[in-house]
Amino acid sequence: MRIPEHGIARDQILEEIQALRTDDADWHSGHTWSLVYHASDEHTSLLKEAYGTLFSENGLSPIAFPSLRRLEAEVVRMTATMLNGDSAVAGTMTSGGTESLLMTVKTYRDWGRAALGVEHPNMVLPRTAHAAFGKAAHYFDVEPIWVDVAADLRADVAAMEEAITGDTVLIVGSTPNYPHGMIDPIEELGAVASERGIGLHVDACLGGFLLPWVERLGYLIAPFDFRVPGVTSMSADVHKYGYAAKGASTVTYRTAELRRHQFHVTTGWPGGIYASPSMAGTRPGGAIAAAWAALHSMGEDGYFAIAEELMSITRRLIDGVAAIDGVRVLGKPPVTVFAFESDAEDVDIYAVGDALEQKGWYMDRQIAPASLHVMVTSPAHGEVADDFLADLAASVAEVRRNPAASQQGQAALYGMMTTLPDPTMVDEVVLQMLDGLYTI
Ligand SMILES: Cc1ncc(COP(=O)(O)O)c(C=O)c1O
Repeated sequence: MRIPEHGIARDQILEEIQALRTDDADWHSGHTWSLVYHASDEHTSLLKEAYGTLFSENGLSPIAFPSLRRLEAEVVRMTATMLNGDSAVAGTMTSGGTESLLMTVKTYRDWGRAALGVEHPNMVLPRTAHAAFGKAAHYFDVEPIWVDVAADLRADVAAMEEAITGDTVLIVGSTPNYPHGMIDPIEELGAVASERGIGLHVDACLGGFLLPWVERLGYLIAPFDFRVPGVTSMSADVHKYGYAAKGASTVTYRTAELRRHQFHVTTGWPGGIYASPSMAGTRPGGAIAAAWAALHSMGEDGYFAIAEELMSITRRLIDGVAAIDGVRVLGKPPVTVFAFESDAEDVDIYAVGDALEQKGWYMDRQIAPASLHVMVTSPAHGEVADDFLADLAASVAEVRRNPAASQQGQAALYGMMTTLPDPTMVDEVVLQMLDGLYTI
């Protein structure tokens, strides 16, 4: 395959792209439980316009584009204020949660070397912390020490404290974590970090733009942000519950001195003095503009209203799942993210996932324990919640009637991958899948 010799007409190009979408998951009607956060069509139309206004501009140069410098600085400041940071809190925008976590780990690696004299740093994390920490560990050569969570599926603070060594520069808590939607005990983790003189990063990529409003609704009691003394940094994604366009997250540090370790400067390069706050070189201006537009359009009252709606949809779903014989919700998820597993011998949860998918639901499968994942991300979920619960009940019944279902489809694949004795064999299967993504 090669680039067409002659350019193709605009209409045909757009038609071809549209045609490729036929098999895509139907997020607009609320049939996905991850990946897309949609407030309303009207809001999305504003995001597109804001994105388009600064579509070509490049955040790499604040000198060429002072507009982007100002918009980014304001997004960071508004986020820091929302997270109860004082004026000393300093941060940057990044392209997403993963880049924010990559930057976090790089920052503490360099801070650990400079401030603590630790040459080969490690970080201690609950097993439920996001996989991007594993990626960061891999990229930046910081050893991850993963610690099992407690029975309530929250970080086991005593076990994490036990795991800390003289080379630990960072501990991590999530608010909430992705797999089960649990909020880790941040105050307790903060006390440990303060006592040991190490960093505590609160990964609020998921909940940063949700928890402040949920707290005001009266659902949460324990502080989870810069109010907690030991918290030294936080990540919060504007492109999740902030309802911005994709490509927008924030990472904020208790002080500008700490943020300094995130920055990179190359001097003596023939191309000029190269200064870069985060991983990316070129930074899309559109994502910064759309994030700023999202915060201004939603406003605190908009975020509050949507949080209230999503919380009530989630309670409805959790109660509904709990009422279905054969499945149960994991733990007591406090906000809008939860997972459910099978609690019956004759119900293979992965086969339930396949049956739901045949009914038009896009489901994420999880392991340890085997479960299906739900995030309520859009008011559209309110309109389909009852259908989902009915389809779930029907899927459980189908799987019970047809035990062979666990030997078919994704159920067979997941079943096989979770029982392979050697985890490196799973890696190999997945690496082959990644290779396969690029065959036409
Ligand atoms: C808790 C948490 N942290 C980090 C990330 C990574 O974010 P992204 O997919 O934007 O890179 C996610 C994604 O869902 C998340 O839930």
